[in-house]
Formats: sequence, structure tokens, C-alpha cells
Amino acid sequence: MELSNSSDRWGAVSKGLHWAAAGIILVQFVTGFLRYFKIISADTWALFYKYWHMPAGIIVLALVVFRLVWRFSQPHPDLPTHMQWWERLAANGVHVYLYVAMVFLPLTGWAGFNALKIEVDPFGVALPHLFWDIRPLSFIMADTHLYLAIGLAIVFGLHVVGALKHHFVDHDETLIRMAPKGWLKSK
Ligand code: HEM
Ligand code: HEM
Repeated sequence: MELSNSSDRWGAVSKGLHWAAAGIILVQFVTGFLRYFKIISADTWALFYKYWHMPAGIIVLALVVFRLVWRFSQPHPDLPTHMQWWERLAANGVHVYLYVAMVFLPLTGWAGFNALKIEVDPFGVALPHLFWDIRPLSFIMADTHLYLAIGLAIVFGLHVVGALKHHFVDHDETLIRMAPKGWLKSK
């Protein structure tokens, strides 16, 4: 199993980081909106927040920092040659937004709590304070968290539709090369 990427395939580290972050984010996202629409009670959310939402969000932040370093320190598979210029632009734009969301969703959650004078302490370890005790900022951070999450819902939808189009319409290698080895076969 190759750990590194090459110009035509993703290595195991990139794939592992992609699917670990995708899995955590999907749970964050569904449960976050269950709370937003008050389907989960405030008490249940408080427990869920402490034992999952906050620590898992901080893990996503740590993973994406490592992922960006990894991404820019080695080769990167090219997009398929049949793609039009606007498809390339859309694909790259979607990827940039997904990275932005992975960085700023956790950061806005973290800063929003610190602005309310509440520690962010995944696994009992208090993180450094971002903007301590600035109440108006907590509202800005909470709104930004929400809008980033709504944007993520839309962009994630485009990302999945794009991946499925590559596989079922274009019959190219894009989804196959990101899937765990042996899970998908070329047509
Ligand atoms: C069922 C869900 C998903 C599928 C089927 C999927 C599929 C893919 C595929 C096939 C690629 C490779 C594109 C290429 O080779 O050029 C890719 C790249 C990427 N995916 Fe996903 N993905 C999913 C979920 C997510 C989620 C939830 C996120 C983050 C919020 C995400 C972030 C990214 C990013 C940032 C890239 C670009 C990697 C880079 O060029 O550095 N994906 N995804
Ligand atoms: C990848 C990381 C994260 C994702 C995808 C995510 C997603 C969401 C979503 C979809 C919501 C519901 C919409 C909203 O009210 O904004 C939400 C709410 C929330 N998130 Fe996150 N979040 C992440 C990380 C974090 C982190 C690291 C923290 C705190 C340190 C945090 C704190 C909160 C809080 C306090 C709420 C409000 C819940 C309520 O309405 O009572 N989030 N998040």
C-alpha cells in the first residue's frame, strides 16, 4: 500500500484523511441540524456537545492542518483530461470551500465559546483562548458557524453529485482512485 500520492492516484494517507474527516463531519452536520431544528433537547445536546461535537470538531481541525501540509508537500493527482474549463473551476472551487469549512467551522465554534467566557476543553484539556469574553463576537461566531454549515450542505451535495457523475456518467477514475483500494472497479 502506497502512503504517498502520485500524479495519477491518491496514497493511503490522503484517502484515510479524506474519509475520516468526511465521516466525522457527516455526523457533526446531521446532529448539529437536529439540534438547530430542536429535534434534540438542550440537555441531550449539552451532553452530546461535550462528548462528541466539540472534541470531534477539534479533531477535524487537527486533521485538516495535517492534511493541508500533506497536500502541498507532494504530488497531487490531476483532474481527468476530458473535463471542460468550467468543470475544473467548479471542482476546484468546491474543494477550496470544503477546506475552508473544515478550518473555520471548528474555529468559529471554538472562538464563539471563548467569547462567552467558556473553555473549549476536548478530552479535559483546555485549549488556548481565542477572543476571551467579547460577548458581541460570540453572536458573530455563532452566525458564521451556521452559515458555513448551510454552505457546506450545498457544496457537499455538489461534491457528491460530481463524484457520482464521474463514476456513472463519465466512467472515469475519479471516484475509484479516492475509494479504499479494491472497493470500486473500472467499467
Ligand atoms: C459521500 C461523500 C463523499 C464522496 C463520495 C467524496 C468523493 C471525493 C472524491 C472522489 C474526491 C477526489 C477528487 C479528485 O480526485 O480530484 C474527493 C476529494 C475531496 N473531498 Fe470528498 N467526498 C465525500 C465527502 C467529503 C466531505 C464530507 C468533505 C469535507 C467536508 C470532502 C472533502 C474533499 C476535499 C477537500 C477533496 C479535495 C482533495 C484535494 O484535492 O486536496 N469530501 N472527494
Ligand atoms: C467540522 C466541525 C464542525 C461542524 C461540521 C459543525 C457543524 C454544526 C452544525 C451543522 C450546527 C447546527 C447549526 C448551527 O447552530 O450553527 C452546529 C452547531 C453548533 N456547534 Fe458546531 N460544528 C463543528 C465544530 C464545532 C466546534 C469545534 C464547536 C465548539 C468548540 C462547535 C460548537 C457548536 C455550537 C455551540 C453549536 C450550537 C448548538 C445550538 O444551537 O445550541 N462546533 N455545528
